[in-house]
Amino acid sequence: MPVMEGKELRIVGFLCNWCSYGSADTAGVARAWQPTDLRIIRVPCSGRVDPLFIVKSLLNGADGVLVAGCHPRDCHYSAGNFYARRRLEVLKRFLPVLGINDARFEYTWISASEGQRWQQMVTSFTNRIHALGPAPRFENATPLPKVVGMALPPSSRPLGTGKNAPLDDLKQGIKEKLPDLECVIGWQRGYDGVHTAPLFMKIPEDVEKLVWGPFNVANPAVYLPKFKGKKVGIVVKGCDSRSVVELLQEHLVAREDVTIFALPCQGTLDMSRVKEKLGRYTVVDNVVCDETEVIITVDGKKHRLPMNDFAQVKCRLCTKPMAVFADTPLGESPEVEIATHVPPELALLDAMNLDERMAYWSGQITRCLRCYACRNACPMCVCRDYCVSDSRDPRWMTQEADVTQKLFFQAIHALHLAGRCTGCGECQRACPVGIPILALRQQIARTVEELFDDYRAGFDPAAVPPLLSYEVEEKSIREREWK
Ligand code: FES
Repeated sequence: MPVMEGKELRIVGFLCNWCSYGSADTAGVARAWQPTDLRIIRVPCSGRVDPLFIVKSLLNGADGVLVAGCHPRDCHYSAGNFYARRRLEVLKRFLPVLGINDARFEYTWISASEGQRWQQMVTSFTNRIHALGPAPRFENATPLPKVVGMALPPSSRPLGTGKNAPLDDLKQGIKEKLPDLECVIGWQRGYDGVHTAPLFMKIPEDVEKLVWGPFNVANPAVYLPKFKGKKVGIVVKGCDSRSVVELLQEHLVAREDVTIFALPCQGTLDMSRVKEKLGRYTVVDNVVCDETEVIITVDGKKHRLPMNDFAQVKCRLCTKPMAVFADTPLGESPEVEIATHVPPELALLDAMNLDERMAYWSGQITRCLRCYACRNACPMCVCRDYCVSDSRDPRWMTQEADVTQKLFFQAIHALHLAGRCTGCGECQRACPVGIPILALRQQIARTVEELFDDYRAGFDPAAVPPLLSYEVEEKSIREREWK
């Protein structure tokens, strides 16, 4: 047998206690020959296999990972393998964006009586891994530090500064509802004229501080879960409203507790490009918005920033400039051209092969400071009291500043957002060193759309997120095609 010849590779197998582990046992009792590369970890059910087990194995040196559970409808816990199937399929389509060959991971179903099938399966998978050879390691990749060629996609609608938005009407609407609310969350001028800061309006005088315009880049929905159980208001752009909807979907806030105020958004600025344009400055002298551009004077020098050139990429691709729904909607939503454009961060990765992607992430992630600003800015990252990356028991991550630990943290964040990320881009915006991490979330969002009937998070408060549900016969998952 070829797999017995030469060096063993490291293959990790997660086998469900009730069926697949039994099939390996049956094969053993029958003295059926099996390759010796596999290291078996017995789990109670395939539903217990967190995709992070697989990512951690692959990042830490496994050359292949095999997950096996009971056949669909035979799970000892009824539906564990149905949930596992969705998660594992999403993972399989996520691995290549990291630069990991998805052929190194496989999942399948085997019953305890199928000793012979187990033997065939494990031999075939082990042969496949031997044909691929030892897995390339991120630590050994030559980093590709420069991001080049991120062309801006065409805009789905006319971009502007929101100068003519009915801000006074909005303020009036907030003042009317303020007596019934703990506070209303919005934006105020920040430490200078080109930055905003969160505003928590409790009294009418606070409402006068509310601002609306191209500098309202942050997503205020990140503060909503803190007010769980209290009556609270929130001012939203279209993209922010999707985060509110997702929080409602997951019962992290109650609809009757949230009052949504909305204006149509004409786009917000990409602050990293604004910073680049302004250079180092001491004082912001003046900021003026006309309808389509922002004119900023710093240290006596005037800079013109047309929205068409300086808006965030997500604003160019936005299909929902007005809130999904609102209690107080004001203004008219602009016409939007619905076109499918791959976001540039993801298009850049699509054009690379696996080795290039590994080199790309190796170069990018090495700059990560592990400040967790990406996690803290994410409105859907809600396990703030018990984030697995902070856990010491069990210990998911070490404190070492190496590329695998940093990338594993990003994989944790991205996979925990599967089917939940609304694409607000706060993770990438908050990153102080500008790592294009949004691409990882975008790949998962694209996979979820492909697998689950074009599902997009944050549009329907009554919808169940796809990874929290299953179908007995999945339309788009063909797990039985693997032999
Ligand atoms: Fe085997 Fe659930 S018990 S997959």
